[in-house]
Amino acid sequence: MTTTRGLRGREAPITMLTAYDATTAAVVDEAGIDVVLVGDSMGNTALGYDSTLPVTLDEVASRTGAVARATEDALVVADMPFLSFGVEEAESVRNAGRLLKEADADAVKIESGPHTVEMTRRMTEVGIPVMAHLGLTPQHVNQLGGYTRQGTDQDAAEEIVELAGAHADAGAFALVLEHVPANLAGAVTEALDIPTIGIGAGPDCDGQVLVIDDAVGLGEWSPPFSRQFGDVRGEMLGAVEGYREAVESGEFPADEHSHVESELEDLY
Ligand code: KIV
Ligand code: NA
Repeated sequence: MTTTRGLRGREAPITMLTAYDATTAAVVDEAGIDVVLVGDSMGNTALGYDSTLPVTLDEVASRTGAVARATEDALVVADMPFLSFGVEEAESVRNAGRLLKEADADAVKIESGPHTVEMTRRMTEVGIPVMAHLGLTPQHVNQLGGYTRQGTDQDAAEEIVELAGAHADAGAFALVLEHVPANLAGAVTEALDIPTIGIGAGPDCDGQVLVIDDAVGLGEWSPPFSRQFGDVRGEMLGAVEGYREAVESGEFPADEHSHVESELEDLY
């Protein structure tokens, strides 16, 4: 069983992948991945939106439950979707707690900023482990104007270093760094006691995370910092076309897929 504490001070890099359903989570868990993230990237992937903004707490809770039921060893982290936190602190804590109480998550992840330091402290105090997330925070797409690299100038880089330290001090057990320069991610990793997990953040983090659709080649597109370790979409397309052709040609179902009940009397 992977625990939030168990991620600290490990020799081998931490591995993390997203999953949004039980079938996929079972594969991710069986493959020995340390952390399964029920990311709000489900908005762009499983749910078919063009951003993460429409994703609801109910959707994350439902899918976290499915993932948790199928996961034996990996740590299950549920992403807090847009506006489920940050409006009011009490509501934020209750919403995060719901993902542990009802959906059986082990921890939550929060897109972090100056406004989430106290929230992280409060959640940690009541027993909700928090994974922080800095750099590119896609819930801010309307201010960022796109999914661009963050922390590229000195001021922005210093702000990320500072916020990383503030969240670690507030009790966050790990930090995702998304789409930042590798040297900035390396510096943050060096400065923190808690593990960093990078995506588009170079090799010097304590771990790596990818969106499952990108990693296995399930989506039609994947970002340049990702890598397709398989062609699941191609495999699935081949299987579905094979099924269609077999039905259309009358080749499926064959005798071995069918059952004739000899006890039945003539029905007409
Ligand atoms: O939602 C997500 O998949 C994420 C990862 C990219 C870190 O937040
Ligand atoms: Na996310």
